[in-house]
Amino acid sequence: MKSVRSDAVSRRRVLKGAATVAVASSVPTGWAIAQAKPLKVGLMLPYSGTFAKLGENITFAVEILLAEKGGKLGGREVQIVKLDDESKPENGPQNAERLVKRDAVDVLIGTVHSGVQMGIHKVVRESGTLCIVPNAGANAVTRELCAKNVFRTSFTNWQPAHGMGLALGKRGIKKAAWITWDYAAGAESGDGFKEGLAKHGGEVVKTLTLKFPETNFQPLLAQIPDLGVEAVGSFFAGGGAIQFVKEYKAAGIKVPLCGSGFLTEGVLGPQGDAAEGIETALHYGDGVDNPKNAAFRKAFKDKTQRDADVYAVKGYDAAQLLALGLEAVKGNLEDEANLYKAMRSAKFDSPRGAVSISPSQDIVHNIYLRRAEKGENKVVGIAAESLADPGTGCKL
Ligand code: BEZ
Repeated sequence: MKSVRSDAVSRRRVLKGAATVAVASSVPTGWAIAQAKPLKVGLMLPYSGTFAKLGENITFAVEILLAEKGGKLGGREVQIVKLDDESKPENGPQNAERLVKRDAVDVLIGTVHSGVQMGIHKVVRESGTLCIVPNAGANAVTRELCAKNVFRTSFTNWQPAHGMGLALGKRGIKKAAWITWDYAAGAESGDGFKEGLAKHGGEVVKTLTLKFPETNFQPLLAQIPDLGVEAVGSFFAGGGAIQFVKEYKAAGIKVPLCGSGFLTEGVLGPQGDAAEGIETALHYGDGVDNPKNAAFRKAFKDKTQRDADVYAVKGYDAAQLLALGLEAVKGNLEDEANLYKAMRSAKFDSPRGAVSISPSQDIVHNIYLRRAEKGENKVVGIAAESLADPGTGCKL
């Protein structure tokens, strides 16, 4: 069976061959033929399950950026192909192959779940397809497994939780627990939290986990009062985060709950009073004050009747980064050297504030400290300014 990589390479060779013939016979070049075709952008995201709303918000935001650009990127019409990955890691590689091989997408934007991301990553590394990660934080994607065709506009799992650990450590917290789903996002966020805390002499004395996407929190919550900790850090998101925060409050646990900001992001409405006062750290928050954010929030509300959240922001930025790269090469994806150069050196205004791309092609951004108050994740400080992931092991 032919590999995806050899298909992609031979597709490029066909185009290059066509260009050579065209010069001799003055018919349109291979590139001119390719340019006339719409640019196919695959959105591989969860549209069902616990992360469904996250995938929807990313999609709406991509559509908003496209509409702002008149439906074209780098002069090319854009055709969107959507695929529901259901946040199922076991189907990740097969779903990514469907987009890359069957649908022949030129660009893949995806996904939310770190485990599914690893499946996408395997496929796009082999095929050379340009991939922009709009949420999943799996560290390896922009660390030891980084690739020149893969960019991330979201975060590494390490980043937000590291900010939370630093903030607790600075205020003198010495003993904390970590509670999460047992998969990459939970474990890697836990490492970031632990490292942040340790910088100020604090430690995580206990880690409590359950399988993704299970929500049987009671046996874990029951252990917390006897741990002798001053804070409980956590990573949960989407539907699971709603239930966790409500059950934590209902259990009457006196130890303050905090976490990576996904814990309260986009879910404060259904969490209600249970979320009041919870501190989290994230690369976005209510009260981030800049013109880009004001315009984006309005556009998002007008389109969806929902308030924008961090997922929407990262989807918008995935499309912003793609637009910026394609504009630099006038829509010619074959000009990889200049496309990647433009994307790597990108500095742009995100609704979250000014951002840039790190040498390992992850995003560099502020990590805000937020407190949940009356339905808002109010920014109360900066936990880490312009924080770049260490990019450990990445050689590009
Ligand atoms: C992740 O799996 O990487 C993830 C999922 C939801 C929110 C944040 C991160």
